[in-house]
Amino acid sequence: MSFKKSILCIGAGYVGGPTMAMIAYKCPQYKVTVVDISSSRIDAWNSDNLPIYEPGLYEIVKTVRGKNLFFNVDIEEEIIKADTIFVSVNTPTKTFGTGAGMAADLQYWEKTARKIRECATSNKIIIEKSTLPVKTALAMERILTSQNSSIRFDVLSNPEFLAEGTAIKDLEFPDRVLIGSRETPEGISARDELVQIYLNWVPKQKIITSNIWSSELSKLVSNAFLAQRISSINSISALCEKTEADITEVSKAVGMDMRIGSKFLNASIGFGGSCFKKDILNLVYLCEQYGLSEVASYWHGVVKINEYQKERFVLNMLKYMFNTLAGKKISLLGFSFKADTGDIRESPAIFIAKRLAEEKVELVISDPKALQNAKNELCNLDITVSFIEDPYEACINSDAIAVMTEWSVYRALDYEKIYKDMAKPAFIFDGRNILDHKKLFEIGFNVFPIGKPSMSHL
Ligand SMILES: NC(=O)c1ccc[n+]([C@@H]2O[C@H](COP(=O)([O-])OP(=O)(O)OC[C@H]3O[C@@H](n4cnc5c(N)ncnc54)[C@H](O)[C@@H]3O)[C@@H](O)[C@H]2O)c1
Repeated sequence: MSFKKSILCIGAGYVGGPTMAMIAYKCPQYKVTVVDISSSRIDAWNSDNLPIYEPGLYEIVKTVRGKNLFFNVDIEEEIIKADTIFVSVNTPTKTFGTGAGMAADLQYWEKTARKIRECATSNKIIIEKSTLPVKTALAMERILTSQNSSIRFDVLSNPEFLAEGTAIKDLEFPDRVLIGSRETPEGISARDELVQIYLNWVPKQKIITSNIWSSELSKLVSNAFLAQRISSINSISALCEKTEADITEVSKAVGMDMRIGSKFLNASIGFGGSCFKKDILNLVYLCEQYGLSEVASYWHGVVKINEYQKERFVLNMLKYMFNTLAGKKISLLGFSFKADTGDIRESPAIFIAKRLAEEKVELVISDPKALQNAKNELCNLDITVSFIEDPYEACINSDAIAVMTEWSVYRALDYEKIYKDMAKPAFIFDGRNILDHKKLFEIGFNVFPIGKPSMSHL
């Protein structure tokens, strides 16, 4: 079968896999190939056990895989064949040298740019899907054109706004698709080609175009604003706990103001995920680089409050459990950074598990989708850790339950049954404020939500 267009995506991760699956699903006339340096990841994409869990993803992949969606490791070969190349490799926080702990580590991204230059034998449109510091496209253009060949590369920025857990819905019905390009005739023509791809399923008014630097910066700013809302409400949750105000009531009152809106105003143990912290630190680093220290410290505060909130949670556990946790059995319900994903990157549960290990507890970890990732993460702890998917079994003989992730299954558990099987006094720390606290208290639990008065029998 001949296809109208050959699209390649380099990087088969949480973004590359689902995004390309959606393009293939919506555009049967295009051939879509996803490549990666990790052969185990590619093998998983070609199996029934996909490397990531995302509601609805498996069904879509199954429909199009082998028809117009392909996964392989022949990076060089595929670069030659493609006319449009998305780059969605990882851009983690740098862990070494200048900018360590703050700046984006662009080594994977740069290797990809060099590989494209090395292999390409015809003109290509290169699309930055990864989240990158503003002005990265300039560096990409310089690398791509540094061999003075006659091949033309047009670099576009098309940041991805999907959220894990709702990626398929976000890809199918995006709030907006942003495409940044150079404002030259060539840049605008490349941009229009990408617009045509999205027009296969995204309404025209939702596809917005901008200059390339605005596009790169918008993604960082978008994540910074989302995380800022979480840190803002979490900072107020600490004040609520001191004053007997209730954060849910405060959020509701504040969020009903149309200018503010109600989303992202739930107090919790803090945000996680691979993006928020890394992107804010990246923004902070950029501001510092441009000499904007006040702006940098303003945004740094968002990350600092997030760290504070997690530490505060552990200190509350310690305080309410008689200032010692040593030898106590604590069951963490949930380990992924949010519901409906198996991803644990930067999950608050990691920090809390490790802090509890310092207090010498015995840990039980339960999660519907993230147990394997949790095992990999916690394998070096020098305390007893068990991994039990069934929440009832996970809570047997526990002194305390701590809810880490807002999985809906945890709302609907039979807490009377759980209470009977626990050590007494039984404690529950609801790190997501998802449970019926009054009912739990009536059952006999000592209940400690976030930003609300605690309910204790002691
Ligand atoms: N995860 C999200 O929710 C999300 C949302 C929006 C944007 N982003 C951004 O998208 C980018 C990718 O994120 P992700 O979560 O998909 O990362 P990921 O780590 O899940 O996937 C990246 C993949 O790139 C591969 N890779 C690295 N170097 C390569 C190379 N030289 N050639 C081929 N493959 C290579 C890795 O093996 C990995 O499989 C990041 O910049 C991230 O900030 C992520």
